[in-house]
Amino acid sequence: MIREELVIDRIGVIGLGMVGGAVAKACSKAGLRVLGYDRYLGIGDPERLAGCRVVFLCVPTPASPDGGFDLDEVWAAVGEIEPVLGEGSIVAVKSTVPPGTVDRLADAFPRIEFADLPEFLVASNPDETFVNPDRVVVGAGSTTAATILVELMSMVAPEAPAIVVRPIEAELAKLCANALLAAKVAMANELSDVCAQYDVQWPRVKAVVGLDRRIGPDHLSVTRERGFGGACLPKDLDGLIAAAASSGRSPSLLRFVADFNRDIRMQAERDAMGGSTEWAASNGRKAPSSNGRQLTERGRSQP
Ligand SMILES: NC(=O)c1ccc[n+]([C@@H]2O[C@H](COP(=O)([O-])OP(=O)(O)OC[C@H]3O[C@@H](n4cnc5c(N)ncnc54)[C@H](O)[C@@H]3O)[C@@H](O)[C@H]2O)c1
Repeated sequence: MIREELVIDRIGVIGLGMVGGAVAKACSKAGLRVLGYDRYLGIGDPERLAGCRVVFLCVPTPASPDGGFDLDEVWAAVGEIEPVLGEGSIVAVKSTVPPGTVDRLADAFPRIEFADLPEFLVASNPDETFVNPDRVVVGAGSTTAATILVELMSMVAPEAPAIVVRPIEAELAKLCANALLAAKVAMANELSDVCAQYDVQWPRVKAVVGLDRRIGPDHLSVTRERGFGGACLPKDLDGLIAAAASSGRSPSLLRFVADFNRDIRMQAERDAMGGSTEWAASNGRKAPSSNGRQLTERGRSQP
């Protein structure tokens, strides 16, 4: 029965950046015909995706001025592609989106199905980490869509266990995972300052702490830039805060982590430019020596 439903010999990929590129390469390696469309790179066109039963949506969702996710490209891409897709086709959203987005898309475009397949790849090694995730999350609105997507992903990432949840649960799982990783980095920075008070180097303590399986060694490093940066963690944390706020909840701890991160990164930037060597006075952390030795040591300790 599963095999009958999975008459998929070709898939579509919209947005051929880091995530879309990894999806396209992995699907192609798995023996599927991949049809790509990227509006701004001038690759393909929406009509090209006609006949695809499954289309992966991998367009950007940058931060909007209010800190939430800007979903303009998501809606623009779906609006373009929907008329060419056959009834019952599945748009698998890999873009990181706020909770409820996939349900809203499903309401607006009832002819096709939507699912949330959050992406957990690591930017420094996208192709390898895309096919070897800790888990594949399939947030599907129907059993048929779930079955097709689990089967498809088992061809692409055969080692990974698949978990089927509701779309909104998948959207939240992605954002909650990144919020926890962000908090872990922020905490590592704070703990490294505490260790410095005792003239103890954080990497030596980190090596011991990271061996605890409940904690794990990842996201404990303290960089010269301090805190967490990159394309995903700050944006996703702010996006979750904005989403929670719009649903009537003020997530104070999440806000604290985001503000703390902004503070320590700004301070590190000022220090790097030879500005004030005072640490944020508000949280009572120690001033580094005037030659910036403390900061330099932390910088060197990075893997
Ligand atoms: N980069 C990561 O490490 C990572 C990891 C997990 C999740 N994500 C999420 O995945 C999504 C994509 O991220 P990315 O890093 O691949 O972005 P990217 O900027 O590298 O690529 C996006 C591509 O989409 C194209 N595009 C934009 N609007 C389009 C449209 N309307 N139609 C067709 N193509 C369009 C762009 O030209 C670009 O090539 C984002 O929501 C991001 O938050 C990224």
